[in-house]
Amino acid sequence: MGDYKIAVIGGDGIGPEVTDEALKVVRATGVAVETKEFELGARHYVETGEVLTEETLDDLRNFDAILLGAIGPAIGSKEVPPGILERGLLLKLRFALDLYINLRPFSGTKSSLAKNNELYVVRENTEGPYAGEGGQLRPGTPFEVATQGSVNTYHGVERCVRFAFELARDTKRKNLTLVHKTNVLVYAGSLWQRIFEETAKEFGDVETSYCHVDAATIYLVTDPGRFGVMVTDNLFGDILTDLAGAVYGGIGLAASANLNPARTGPSLFEPVHGAAHDIAGQNKANPLGAIRSAAMMLRHLGESEAAKRVEDAVLGVSDNLDNQAERLSTADIGDAVAERV
Ligand code: IPM
Ligand code: MN
Repeated sequence: MGDYKIAVIGGDGIGPEVTDEALKVVRATGVAVETKEFELGARHYVETGEVLTEETLDDLRNFDAILLGAIGPAIGSKEVPPGILERGLLLKLRFALDLYINLRPFSGTKSSLAKNNELYVVRENTEGPYAGEGGQLRPGTPFEVATQGSVNTYHGVERCVRFAFELARDTKRKNLTLVHKTNVLVYAGSLWQRIFEETAKEFGDVETSYCHVDAATIYLVTDPGRFGVMVTDNLFGDILTDLAGAVYGGIGLAASANLNPARTGPSLFEPVHGAAHDIAGQNKANPLGAIRSAAMMLRHLGESEAAKRVEDAVLGVSDNLDNQAERLSTADIGDAVAERV
């Protein structure tokens, strides 16, 4: 029997391959885990018509953590319309389990644009344009109306901003930037700005700044070292973290933790990348994002020493990969990390 009960959702495309490597590395740390696999995702939906039942959701609540690979159909798939899995599975998990923080850490590899910089993006994970407010009128006619609102609650923004301040206080640089578009999205922007300023009063040792999201995309590329911790809304965070992934050594390396910091249920850990069906089953996918996500899981479970060993190993292997002429396979990269932990 393992010490920790982990629900594993390999999912689609390269998801299962990278998740296998992540579990390989977790086992190499010596931390005992007991795993149970859940068949969910595009294939499962096409075969059964099921996205995520209440029963499965309740089962997942009993685990200490959830490790997820990737969910999504192949691009252009006619069998799974856009939104079915994203809203019905991924977002449903985030909302139902109250995973209100999406924490995405980035460490610049030697050959990346961001060199030796470190960045944390704290993305609000249950509100904003993702909340699903809106609707259609007269769809398919020339008079179609589509609205898509952004939901921002005092409660949701406050707990996110507070998490970011606590995180920034624990980093060396103690530097936190609010990223938004307060000059145009004045209602949501004003709420974020006020809460940010109010909360800052409790964290006198954290240096604060504000950056518009469009400008932030410039600085992320031209001056990545400018930011220590960023806090932002759900959609800005989604976009900025793909960009940060590219700048910080490639999206294959980018990890994320969907956290329920109140610990009223399990948190969920997944790489930032998607299912990449074009390279699935070829032992080609980079598992480092999944492995680093598993390190975040270990840290959340209280195994910070094992987590640190995995993170250091991931960064060591990724620096070596940059120098390697030949591409290592998915399993080789997993082995290389497992050997180092
Ligand atoms: C991510 C993904 C998801 C998101 C999609 C697949 C729902 O892009 O985790 O960043 O938009 O949050
Ligand atoms: Mn994304």
